[in-house]
Order: sequence, then structure tokens, then C-alpha cells
Amino acid sequence: MRPAGRCGAVLSARRVRAYPGGMGELPETFDDAFRSSARSEWLRREFPRLLDPELPPEVEPFSFVPASGLAEIASAVRVGPGDLLVDLACGRGGPGMWVARRVGAALCGVDGSSVAVAAATDRRDAFGLGSRARFAQGDLAATGLADGAADAVMCVDALQFAPDRDLVARELRRVLRPGGRLVLTCWEARLLGDACVVERFATLRCGEVLRAAGFADVEVVERPAWEERRRAVYDAALALGPSEDVGLSMIQAEGRDALQEMPLTRRVLVTATNPT
Ligand SMILES: C[S@@+](CC[C@H](N)C(=O)[O-])C[C@H]1O[C@@H](n2cnc3c(N)ncnc32)[C@H](O)[C@@H]1O
Repeated sequence: MRPAGRCGAVLSARRVRAYPGGMGELPETFDDAFRSSARSEWLRREFPRLLDPELPPEVEPFSFVPASGLAEIASAVRVGPGDLLVDLACGRGGPGMWVARRVGAALCGVDGSSVAVAAATDRRDAFGLGSRARFAQGDLAATGLADGAADAVMCVDALQFAPDRDLVARELRRVLRPGGRLVLTCWEARLLGDACVVERFATLRCGEVLRAAGFADVEVVERPAWEERRRAVYDAALALGPSEDVGLSMIQAEGRDALQEMPLTRRVLVTATNPT
């Protein structure tokens, strides 16, 4: 809950839980969100177009990274044919499959939601990946992958959902081979501990978490242009008014709070290397 007065608004607990980048914290909640989104024509067709008309339709993201951002991820993971790319918290798999197809790597997607994992598995043919991509249920902090199995890991708009980010960072180092790359996208409060920012971002410093776990070459860069795309999605969704489309209603609820918090947060792309 936001303290009244200091932040100019008071958010209900329900709204705080709903915001942002997705739709709840626990895998069961995400299961519900993915079931609802499968029934939402607006989420499937309009959301990606508003986020970025350049996004190939098959991506169907459950996140806020435009096409240029996916291209940046594809370049930063530094993998190619014969390598294994892991997409941690892969959701319905689109961003990871787009990157894997672009670089020619095999893909293993892991997500806490069984609904998302089933949808991602069903969608492999839309990317022409077939058995080159596989998906499994697992946790951000307990992926079930073997030590050093991954040549690179990407993680789009999900680190904030982990209750213990240090555990996730240690798991990332465990599954990455020496020299393997990590690329993640997230949000952070501009002011550490800002009481006006939802807790999961207020306390998050991705770079510090990764350095503390022993990652090298940690770089955190801001991507304000991505945030402008997110703003455009919320503005367009809210302009449509009340709707029976569950996906549209979900994004409208998220947008009401996210638009207030946007000036207080920064959109980040984070890269790091597992030391050799
Ligand atoms: C905003 S969505 C992003 C999904 C996907 N990366 C994309 O770009 O479409 C966040 C994802 O994190 C997953 N998630 C949240 N908490 C998790 C956890 N503790 N372990 C594994 N996955 C988790 C959710 O199921 C959801 O798929």
C-alpha cells in the first residue's frame, strides 16, 4: 500500500499485487493469467501491435520488450548453432523462441506455470523449431537443469517475481557454463527503497545481485524507449474504456498504477558473464 500524501495516491492491495509486467506472483496466479490471456483476442492481436508493430505475430509476448530489444538480447547472449540457450521464466515461449530461431541455437524454456509450459510446447511449430526447443516446469531459483548445461540464459521481465533474488543469481551461475552469458530485462526503482514504488522493484538492484553472486562484466543499461512503448500500450488500452475482454481489462488495471509509477522506475537491460 502507498502511504497517502507522500506519494500522492493510495493503491489498493489488490492493485499492487496486479502490477506490473504481469499479473501476479505465484505460479497458480500466472496459470490463471495465462488461461485468461488465451481467451483474449485483444492480448493476442492488439497488445503486440501496440507494443511494437515490428514484432512478428508469433511472438505473442507476455512482457514489454519491443523487437529492437529482442534483437539486442539475441546479440548479447553470444550463442549460435550447437549451443543451448535457456529462457528462464519463458512464459508462452515467444521471446525465447524468436531469439533461438534468430541465432540458430537449441532452446530450453523453464517456467513456474504449467499452463505456460504447455502453451509454449504447442507453439514450437509456429517458429519452425520442432524438437530444437523444449519446455519444462521449474522455478527461477530451482530450474532443474544440470550444472553448466546452459551456454547462455535469457530472462525477460521476471526476476522481480522471485522472493529471493540472491538464490536466483546463484542458480543462474550454477546452470551457466564458465564464460556463459546472462541477459535479463527488468525494472528498478530510481530511488532504492522508494515507498511509492511497488515493493518488488523498490528493493531490486539487478547489478548488485549479480555481482554479489560472482558474475563478471555486469552491465546495467537503461532503455527509456522501451518504456515509451509500454506507455503507449497502457494509454491505448485505457482509452478503450470498460471491456469484457479479460486480457484488456487486466492491462487496463495494470496500466492505471504503472503509469503513475513510471517516472519513479527505470527500464533496464542487464548483461553479465559467468566467470571462467
Ligand atoms: C511477465 S511474464 C514474462 C514471460 C516471458 N518471459 C515473456 O516475455 O513472454 C513473467 C513470467 O515469470 C513466470 N514466473 C513468475 N514467478 C516465477 C517463479 N518463481 N519461477 C518460475 N517462473 C516464474 C511466470 O509464470 C511468467 O511466465
